[in-house]
Amino acid sequence: VSYPLALPSWDGEELAALQAVIDSGRFTMGDRVRELEQRFADTVGSRFAVMVNSGSSANLLMAAALRYRTSEPAAPGDEIIVPAVGWATTYYPFAQLGFRLVLVDVEPDTYNLDPAALAAAIGPRTRAVCVVHALGNPCALDAITRVIAQANDDGGRIDLLEDTCEALGARFAGKQCGSHGAMGTYSFFFSHHISTMEGGMVVTDDADLAETLVCLRAHGWTRDLPSGSKLAGTLSDDPFDRQFRFLLPGYNVRPLELSAAVGLVQVAKIERFVEQRRRNAAVARELLAPFAGTFDLQRETAESSWFGFGITITGVDRRLVTRSLLASGIEHRPIITGNFARQPVLAHLDHRVSGPLSGADRIDRCGLFVGNREHDLTAELTLLASTLEGATERRLAA
Ligand SMILES: Cc1ncc(COP(=O)(O)O)c(C=O)c1O
Repeated sequence: VSYPLALPSWDGEELAALQAVIDSGRFTMGDRVRELEQRFADTVGSRFAVMVNSGSSANLLMAAALRYRTSEPAAPGDEIIVPAVGWATTYYPFAQLGFRLVLVDVEPDTYNLDPAALAAAIGPRTRAVCVVHALGNPCALDAITRVIAQANDDGGRIDLLEDTCEALGARFAGKQCGSHGAMGTYSFFFSHHISTMEGGMVVTDDADLAETLVCLRAHGWTRDLPSGSKLAGTLSDDPFDRQFRFLLPGYNVRPLELSAAVGLVQVAKIERFVEQRRRNAAVARELLAPFAGTFDLQRETAESSWFGFGITITGVDRRLVTRSLLASGIEHRPIITGNFARQPVLAHLDHRVSGPLSGADRIDRCGLFVGNREHDLTAELTLLASTLEGATERRLAA
């Protein structure tokens, strides 16, 4: 492979951090997790951060917290508006918690939720909008928050949620993506902006939501709640009783100290990592400029953290392009799930589709993405450009 989708971003520091945990003999959630939560909250500008064992678990807790929060919890049957292009585990938790998914179109060039389609999808049961900042590209949060504010002025009770699992370090109006709504989620899986092997985070500014998330993360018990917790209320504070007191139907999605130890090293590198990804994007933009109209790079909204380089193809058969990429050793993938409404799993999820999904279909039929990382990719992107050029020449010859 000459241009892999991803490579490890660790050096000796991360390995030393792992060794320190091994030497300590304490592997389960402890001080390192708490320290990383604080550092992460400071980094993205949120009041609270709750670490979990994956981005999917972060989405699960976010959906469950909406359902079990102390004030104005959402009810089964309430609707959650989602873009038709997202990750599978953006969708599953909402449906599993009894909510109805409402799939809405995305813009074919930014790959993100279309604000006009969102406005048309809002109904009396709409309880939240969960945006996905696709491939690191911020959604049009100004237009989206305006649509939500208008609906709430008209008597709605709609929260903005952000699946930021592909977009750590992206900013909209100078503010970190993930920190604009009621809750935001992140993934630290391999190939993401920072990697802790497996890992994820939920952030919020709301103290009640933070307590609910903490309770749901581990068995739904009271043990990890702070003293004076509103959620625990007037329960006995007898230390014996508090060992096994269960409040909510939670999970066990706790992270390991090993992940947090690596996360503490990686979190200090976020800015440098994202800056390099942005420099690579500038190179990609320049090299692909001559192919505008045939191979179009994802259109950036605000400040993307460039998870990868999404390309939509016009006038050339995608199979011809993917064959050329394979021959050049350039790894590539569909743009996330394509149009999720076309995935067979939808038969298992309560949902409705609002409006046409032509933007999502275009991404599904004509899109692909290649990797980005925290190293200079000029050589790899030059190979990409010459491979694409070769594909167009083969089309002309055909
Ligand atoms: C948008 C989005 N949400 C959620 C996830 C799930 O994260 P994880 O793989 O850490 O479970 C991903 C994974 O890449 C993702 O791209």
